[in-house]
Amino acid sequence: MEYRITLLPGDGIGPEIVSAAVRVLEKIGEIYGHTFHFTTCLMGGCAVDACGEPLPQSTVDACLAADSVLLGAVGGPKWDTLPAAQRPEKGLLGIRAAMGLYTNLRPARLYPALKHACPLRADIVEKGFDLMMVRELTGGIYFGERGRREGKYGPEAYDTEAYSVMEIERIARAAFEAARKRRGDVVSIDKANVLESSRLWRETVHRVAAEYPDVTVTDMLVDNAAMQLVRNPARFDVVVTSNMFGDILSDEASQISGSIGLLPSASLGATRRGLYEPIHGSAPDIAGQNIANPLATILSAAMMLRYAFDLGVEADAIEAAVDQALNDGCRTADIAADLPEGVSPLTCTGMTEAVLARLRA
Ligand code: IPM
Ligand code: MN
Repeated sequence: MEYRITLLPGDGIGPEIVSAAVRVLEKIGEIYGHTFHFTTCLMGGCAVDACGEPLPQSTVDACLAADSVLLGAVGGPKWDTLPAAQRPEKGLLGIRAAMGLYTNLRPARLYPALKHACPLRADIVEKGFDLMMVRELTGGIYFGERGRREGKYGPEAYDTEAYSVMEIERIARAAFEAARKRRGDVVSIDKANVLESSRLWRETVHRVAAEYPDVTVTDMLVDNAAMQLVRNPARFDVVVTSNMFGDILSDEASQISGSIGLLPSASLGATRRGLYEPIHGSAPDIAGQNIANPLATILSAAMMLRYAFDLGVEADAIEAAVDQALNDGCRTADIAADLPEGVSPLTCTGMTEAVLARLRA
């Protein structure tokens, strides 16, 4: 088969980790007889520098025309003082909205080989965990009305959290469907003791739940959820939550899995085939040094094969190669604490080659 993939390497370590994933996809193509056609487009700070805007129309068009999109990361101190509309992050939010990507799947698990990198207590680490965070991605406070105004105490700023029944229903369905393919348990996270939008969220999730009698659903307040994630992460199978709560909790989930450099994501929605990206940022402090961990992006490419192209066998092969590399002691700097004295961590390309060497049909 032939597939057209638009690449958005972005800023910072983005280009390094995207080329790592491209090498893995090309090898998969060789082994399994697929051809991937790659088109690279500008998005984020690099687009601001080249065209004066973070998301040029030509990039949107190329993403909509492609079979799938692979993104690195955007942003960096260089663009931090630009007005809101020109910030690199605006490009990321813009492409999510333009492609209608309302479902963000962020799997997080503890790799047995990386138990040493988990900051949790030994008895919690022993139990392990394997969860799927389903984050709403095109609504809520990220996209609500915002602005500056004169308030009771002088100048103030505001952002609005708003969710429609339709938006909650469709993300709830995505979570229940995901749970059916896993352990059949959903935890819906909100702040219904304070927020009206959360009360609508809770009501709506329960109405949708009636369509999935085979799945269990529990509500959890977000503050408690933040605590349970470090107290008993094994308790979670599928977690469904709003855009901002999902942003925060997925970083927490990544840290207990050892490193944010390990977590992939899939953003799905109207276009079906979606956009795939690591959950981490552009890490400007280590950009260009060839020391970033490419695994989150390589694993995002595996998610692309599985969800966009229905190539489950090929996706499994990538995940197995990553597992094998970690089991064999391959480590980038972010997960190197267990390396013996005098052994240096692998570079970004070194880890990529370790995965390539372990890929087989
Ligand atoms: C993420 C990132 C983005 C988000 C930023 C860069 C806009 O933190 O993908 O988690 O908040 O969604
Ligand atoms: Mn985030």
